[in-house]
Amino acid sequence: MNKQLEKLFRLPTVEDPYQYKKVRIVDIEDLAPDHRMFTLKFTDERVSQNFDFVPGQFIMLTIPKAGEIPLSICSSPTRKGTIQITVRRTGRKTKYLYTLKEGDLLAVRGPYGNGFPMDLMKGNNVLIIAGGLGLAPLRSVIWYVLDKREDYKEVYLLYGTRNYRLVLYKEELERLRKRSDIKTLFALDRFESEEDRAWADYEGYLPGLISKVDLDPEKTYVTVCGPPIAYKFIGAELIKNGYHESKIFVSLERKMECGIGKCGHCQVGYKLTCVDGPVFPLWDTKNLPNMI
Ligand SMILES: Cc1cc2nc3c(=O)[nH]c(=O)nc-3n(C[C@H](O)[C@H](O)[C@H](O)COP(=O)(O)OP(=O)(O)OC[C@H]3O[C@@H](n4cnc5c(N)ncnc54)[C@H](O)[C@@H]3O)c2cc1C
Ligand code: FES
Repeated sequence: MNKQLEKLFRLPTVEDPYQYKKVRIVDIEDLAPDHRMFTLKFTDERVSQNFDFVPGQFIMLTIPKAGEIPLSICSSPTRKGTIQITVRRTGRKTKYLYTLKEGDLLAVRGPYGNGFPMDLMKGNNVLIIAGGLGLAPLRSVIWYVLDKREDYKEVYLLYGTRNYRLVLYKEELERLRKRSDIKTLFALDRFESEEDRAWADYEGYLPGLISKVDLDPEKTYVTVCGPPIAYKFIGAELIKNGYHESKIFVSLERKMECGIGKCGHCQVGYKLTCVDGPVFPLWDTKNLPNMI
């Protein structure tokens, strides 16, 4: 079936979209207040080896006695055996998830959604722009690109959050900072402590970092994830600095129920975020109603 027809019929991205896979929590790491990373291992080794996805895709996670929630996969498909999710404690279901321990069982379906166009980006520079928890899906992009380093040209990571306490994957970011095959620039909204000052490269909001990037916009793809409110400003600053609208991809979140294009909960205009997204070209977010 060609791509257009596929979209028309909105085929799910996995063969049996309702197939649940059992996973065990094998590691839990507190990253920041109310931000926790869970490492999940499929109980069936064959599933473990065959589970493939694209950075930016999400899973539906069943939390026994609580319900199901969509979560981005924050690990890279280049690292098989386990998958990782980073969860902010927000409401009932995520609170319940936080009561679980290593060894507990959960169920996963997916992966769903389109993910970032990693193949299209090959042979180009990659500019990764993450705000707050938006670093979670983009962590998958970072490790994918670094594990397939020869496929991409220069790689830049811009990351901004409120203060040092809320910085995610602190040790990992420190290691990235020291690598020569990725350039990093980190911002904190306002320096409120010595810790903030010592860690950040810049005081201010994420868009303020864009003009400091030394890349040829003509040869650069941009991946963005963060609070939707920031998208307008990030988009405007990227355009001002010469980046092409068609090469900027942003990830959107909407309330989801089914995750496979059946219930309509995630509809924006004529798009369904769960199957047409969650990754959209910047053009869509600017020109389709109520996208951001
Ligand atoms: C594609 C996708 C990927 C996601 N990835 C992650 C992730 O990697 N990490 C993570 O922590 N969360 C992620 N989320 C959001 C996560 O699914 C919600 O935080 C979760 O469902 C909240 O469930 P709850 O019962 O704890 O809170 P609820 O009681 O359902 O909600 C608590 C508060 O959060 C708001 N909220 C709930 N769901 C969403 C949503 N989808 N978008 C915006 N606001 C919401 C509610 O309006 C309410 O104010 C993702 C959502 C989508 C659609
Ligand atoms: S979540 Fe049901 S259609 Fe998207």
